[in-house]
Amino acid sequence: MLVTIHSDEKGVADYAYEFVRQKLEGSKNFVMGLASGGTILRLFRKMVDGFAGGELDFSNVHTFNLDEYVGLKPDHPQSYAYFMGEHLFGLVNLKEENIHFLSGVAESVEGHCHHYEKQIKEVGGIDLQILGIGRNGHIGFNEPTSSLASRTRMVTLTQETILDNQRFFPGNEDVPRHALTMGVGTILEAKEVLLLATGPEKSQALASMIEGPVAAVCPASALQMHPRVPVVCDEAAAQRLIYTEHYEKMIDNEKSVEGQFGP
Ligand code: GLP
Repeated sequence: MLVTIHSDEKGVADYAYEFVRQKLEGSKNFVMGLASGGTILRLFRKMVDGFAGGELDFSNVHTFNLDEYVGLKPDHPQSYAYFMGEHLFGLVNLKEENIHFLSGVAESVEGHCHHYEKQIKEVGGIDLQILGIGRNGHIGFNEPTSSLASRTRMVTLTQETILDNQRFFPGNEDVPRHALTMGVGTILEAKEVLLLATGPEKSQALASMIEGPVAAVCPASALQMHPRVPVVCDEAAAQRLIYTEHYEKMIDNEKSVEGQFGP
């Protein structure tokens, strides 16, 4: 993993934006896997501004979202489909036919999940998967003890995740108990994975992911098996890391992000 530590969440979003901008620049057909949630939202805002300012063009970009709540239709305000429309898809020039979601109301869940995986393969696989991380080490909705070889499927959410996501819903009883998610194995097939983590509440999960053993109890630790995983975090999220002398420090713009990412 290539870990960079930034002063704050703004530094994380700036770095991640520059990373994405360089990937999109000049690429003819780019397939992005996208997460939702608070961490990635700051990056989405920068991507929307980048599009408005003429820096980003999404006309040849395909997207696959990671996960969706079971039981919520795309027009439900708490669905991830709605979130993506509000914060990214409705604000940039992505073609509608290039946007892919898991459906929370699919009739045949198994068939739907299988079809989703097929669609990813048909476009040549995901070039860049962007991830957040749950407080319990989940990626997508792959909760602790998910198989590290898991594929896209329906899962049961843990109490911890239900509580964490309660802030987006009117009440606890409104938070769905199940979700569809790309599997850990599906995520590992992306050509590159950019993981963002901010805030002290992510520090334990981040330490387990980067420095802990590869174990299903922290699904994000499976990313240790992937050769291209830039991890972009702030100091608060990095506070429990031990091998900090090995990681890139990007505090107070010590280094410019220009030209950091290679071809
Ligand atoms: C959520 C989502 C993930 C997200 C993660 C972190 O439950 N299923 O896709 O990346 O947990 O969310 P946040 O950035 O809001 O902390």
